[in-house]
Amino acid sequence: MKIIAGNWKMNGSCAGLKEMAVALKNVMTDNKIILCVPYTMLNCVQADNFALGAQDVSAHDKGAFTGEVSATMLAETGAKYVIVGHSERRQYHEETNSIVRQKATAAINAGMIPIICVGETMDEKQAGKTMAVIESGVRESVPSDSNTDIIIAYEPRWAIGAGLTPTEAEIAEAHKLIADTLSSMGLSGTPVLYGASVKSTNAADIMSIPNVDGVLVGGASLKPDDFIPIITSVK
Ligand code: PGA
Repeated sequence: MKIIAGNWKMNGSCAGLKEMAVALKNVMTDNKIILCVPYTMLNCVQADNFALGAQDVSAHDKGAFTGEVSATMLAETGAKYVIVGHSERRQYHEETNSIVRQKATAAINAGMIPIICVGETMDEKQAGKTMAVIESGVRESVPSDSNTDIIIAYEPRWAIGAGLTPTEAEIAEAHKLIADTLSSMGLSGTPVLYGASVKSTNAADIMSIPNVDGVLVGGASLKPDDFIPIITSVK
């Protein structure tokens, strides 16, 4: 069983999600399907053979934080998952590992499963810092006392939305490091997804790499014609 998660980012509509839900109904798979959609769409459909998630959450529980949505509020919609620390949040909203960890903790406290993203920028890659950035990302963003379900997503930031992917050896090395780091934190068995430019033509190969437990798919998760072949490419 692999985890296939979609990240719709700021795209889509209620009507589009309804169409996706109908299309997913006919998909025979043992894989776990998660769709992380904009907040406003969380109540659009009854998620049937897939689960719904959000793409961000406040680190705070309630109060004077205009525009923010707490984990308790998200949980009330029935959403089970929430992406935290996506590279676009880190880039455009200056989210640090420490903030990401607070958000992950808020999600866990509300009974949700955070999908915690880590990954290096092109500058960090070129400076030879990929492994150091990944390891500190995991150590500092993952609540160390998590004795509950979490998911990690390795997303090389330079490859997201760019049609670029690391080599299989690079993905294998990153995922091995993440698995080892999680194990040293007492979190072995935590699923680790790969994300960045996943599509139906590379999904099966990527998911056959050791320590890759699934994928986090951006652009190719928006339409059933692109997303379903990714789900069915993995038996
Ligand atoms: P992409 O996005 O698949 O469009 O590269 C992945 C992500 O941002 O999660």
